[in-house]
Amino acid sequence: MLSRRRFVRLTAGAAAAAAGGGFPFITSCGDPSGPADRVRSPLLRPAEIGAGRTLLAAPGVAPIAEGESAAAWLFNGSLPSPTIRTRRGEVLAFDLGNDLPDPTIIHWHGLLVPPEADGHPRSAIAAGATYRYEVPVIQRAGTYWYHPHAHHRTGEQIHRGLAGFLIVSDAEEDALGLPAGAQEILMLLQDRDAGAASALTYAPAAMDLHAGMLRGTPFGNGVRLPALEVAGGCYRFRLVNGSHARVYRIGLESGAPLTVIGNDGGLLPAAVDVPNIWLGVGERIDFLIDFTDVEPGWRTALRSLAFDVPGTSGKFPQGIELDLLEITRVDGAVPAMPALPPALSAVAPLGAAASDRTFEFRSSPGEEMHRINGLAFAMDRVDAMVPFGETERWVFVNDSTLPHPVHLHGTQFQIVSRTGGRGGVLPYEAGWKDTALVMPEETVEALVRFDAYRGLFLLHCHNLQHEDMGMMMNIEVV
Ligand code: C2O
Ligand code: CU
Ligand code: CU
Repeated sequence: MLSRRRFVRLTAGAAAAAAGGGFPFITSCGDPSGPADRVRSPLLRPAEIGAGRTLLAAPGVAPIAEGESAAAWLFNGSLPSPTIRTRRGEVLAFDLGNDLPDPTIIHWHGLLVPPEADGHPRSAIAAGATYRYEVPVIQRAGTYWYHPHAHHRTGEQIHRGLAGFLIVSDAEEDALGLPAGAQEILMLLQDRDAGAASALTYAPAAMDLHAGMLRGTPFGNGVRLPALEVAGGCYRFRLVNGSHARVYRIGLESGAPLTVIGNDGGLLPAAVDVPNIWLGVGERIDFLIDFTDVEPGWRTALRSLAFDVPGTSGKFPQGIELDLLEITRVDGAVPAMPALPPALSAVAPLGAAASDRTFEFRSSPGEEMHRINGLAFAMDRVDAMVPFGETERWVFVNDSTLPHPVHLHGTQFQIVSRTGGRGGVLPYEAGWKDTALVMPEETVEALVRFDAYRGLFLLHCHNLQHEDMGMMMNIEVV
């Protein structure tokens, strides 16, 4: 039984860690801040709102650690932004209000919505204005998220605090009896400066505009160096990489595997145990960890493992080890891992492609703009016309020494190959994706079909500085 194996491995990992001197309290390599800034704070559970409400973007003040606050930009006064829970078949209806000193617009990342509700930068509203969204939820259950998408301003607005979860449920997922309530942990991952004065201040340097902003301290749900207490039993972790540029390679400090059940577009065809997970900006991952078999007092950490970026090692602080979440087993018991069926979800493979397109992502040092196929984004230029309902093969080529998490609006796609670099499709990239991490030297092929809505959508790199500096194109579905 899957759950049985899990207990054994988690315990074995604990013994190994204890032999090595226990949990290392070093939290963020390269963090220039003092020891006081290494203290952990409880991971916040984001506030929740249902569909049919108002989202007001406004300046405010938010706690970033126990006893510390920072000036922020917030939806409805909370950091992170409130979690929206909805269900397939409902209508998502929101009035966006803008009390920021800046234009803004919300994009529902991963959600199938008509173009006027997609948060294209041309829809941005001025300070003082409002925007009405009203869209049917035709989506599979999954971990989606929302964030601003105004032209040249996405990086700054997400940085200042505007980003939240959008959780969709459906009957297929209900039937699995997955951990819920206090056993469902949502975590928006971001890397920031440690100090309250600078954590939420947006001041990218020239190097940041090239590589994207990479900072030394992990935050979860707006909280610096988060910690979590778990009872004996199974927990569901749903993670969003809401960083500017950071690629995480997520694993347990104990080395125990993670049971991945979902990614960007909801449930995987089958659960898969993996030792670690690459997560580019914009991507989501949904996995289970069972703590039934470890003793109260046992600790581990969800860690981003060190890795090399071909061609750039040492040049940018990408690939450093970071302890994202400290986890402590406390007293109490909750249900153990549910028995998962061999097939979690039906994912029909997209058929043969009628045509091909290639998108080449290039960031050249010393150049101000980032480009796709040699072009920087222009608001009113349509870069590709794609026929509605037809399957195409899209090839994403990374022609630079920086990672590019490639994101598509308007549909979900299927990754069919990766050559160069990591050299294959990863098991947790099965199913439906809206973002594909394309590391330097890699080429990723995806099958793409728009069958929800016609109109104008976007393809872009989700490195927020790349996106803001031109690495985006207009796709018109006709
Ligand atoms: Cu998450 Cu176009 O963005
Ligand atoms: Cu999106
Ligand atoms: Cu990029």
